[in-house]
Amino acid sequence: MIPFVDLKAQYRSIREDVDAAVLGVLDSGQFTLGSEVAAFEREFAEYCGVAQGVGVNTGTSALHLALLAAGVGPGDEVITVPFTFVATVSAIHYTGAKPVFVDIDPESFTMNPAALAAAITPRTKAIVPVHLYGQPADMDPILEVARKRGLVVIEDACQAHGAEYRGRRAGSMGHMGCFSFYPGKNLGAYGEGGMVVTDDPAYARMIRMLRDWGAEQKYHHVLKGYNFRLEGIQGAVLRVKLRHLESWTEARRAAAARYDRLLSGSGVPTPEAMEYARHVYHVYAIRSGRRQQWQEALSAQGIHTGIHYPIPVHLLPAFADLGYAAGEFPHSEQAANEVLSLPMFAELTAEQCEVVSNAVRSLASTSGVPQALASAK
Ligand SMILES: Cc1ncc(COP(=O)(O)O)c(C=O)c1O
Repeated sequence: MIPFVDLKAQYRSIREDVDAAVLGVLDSGQFTLGSEVAAFEREFAEYCGVAQGVGVNTGTSALHLALLAAGVGPGDEVITVPFTFVATVSAIHYTGAKPVFVDIDPESFTMNPAALAAAITPRTKAIVPVHLYGQPADMDPILEVARKRGLVVIEDACQAHGAEYRGRRAGSMGHMGCFSFYPGKNLGAYGEGGMVVTDDPAYARMIRMLRDWGAEQKYHHVLKGYNFRLEGIQGAVLRVKLRHLESWTEARRAAAARYDRLLSGSGVPTPEAMEYARHVYHVYAIRSGRRQQWQEALSAQGIHTGIHYPIPVHLLPAFADLGYAAGEFPHSEQAANEVLSLPMFAELTAEQCEVVSNAVRSLASTSGVPQALASAK
């Protein structure tokens, strides 16, 4: 059996340090925020190359509060992509603003900057590029459009811990960057977690208040805030894990390079690492015109795969009220129909990569790769 991710293997490799860190929090009684969270905020902000980090309870809350801090609210529009996890769009919806979509670039699976200008209206307030699968969006042209039009850029870096765009870390390029520490992420808590990172002390201050009931001083509520605090135990676990993130990322990149090598010549489209990117392979997605058949066949051989994501957000029933129709974002729709995520985690062995690649190669040779897909590579 080859799992899609293996959280237990990772825990076994760091058990002593994690157990000690958790027990330390139990001893300290600092269960919510506290010194471990504060230290993790400093350490993760430094890792991202920014001045400030504000820990929150989820990546979704990080996006929600970053948007609120940017002044986004009812009557505003926020541009993002439909090929993302639903949380990106839900966070925009929570503020009362309207999500507006632009299509992805089919090679990188991230926002097509050339599509941005046409989506901007006088109501547009912010742009949320998503660094999907661990590869940064093409940020320079996005930042240029935003600068010219006076828009705020909030990076959805929930899948992109340690990813880089032309040497700059994910989360450090926009006005704010948002991370998730959901357990399966490249840097995952043992529970839920998230963070906003920013160089702007005013944004950081506002988000610190918003996450803790709008108060800077206990019971002196100056904003209508939320209970979005990061737990002490998660801060302590994440501090331990952050020390390993670079070596885990390199292990993911090595596994991805191995897949690339083993699948080359098979006709199976493998993920494109853009020349500007340090891709951190949160997800390694191949494409197949016969995805369901492939997924079932792999599963029958004990190889677990995932689909990120089967329906683009503009076609989800939950967002039907936005009024988009099938065919409006063809690259997002095609990607949603074809992507298949192979097992990917830092502890994936060379042998496991070979088993998976051989199984995929044999599917490609028996079921064939549709011409359109093979030539897309
Ligand atoms: C692209 C993206 N945005 C936002 C989120 C939301 O993060 P969380 O699950 O921590 O709320 C996730 C992860 O689940 C994600 O992958």
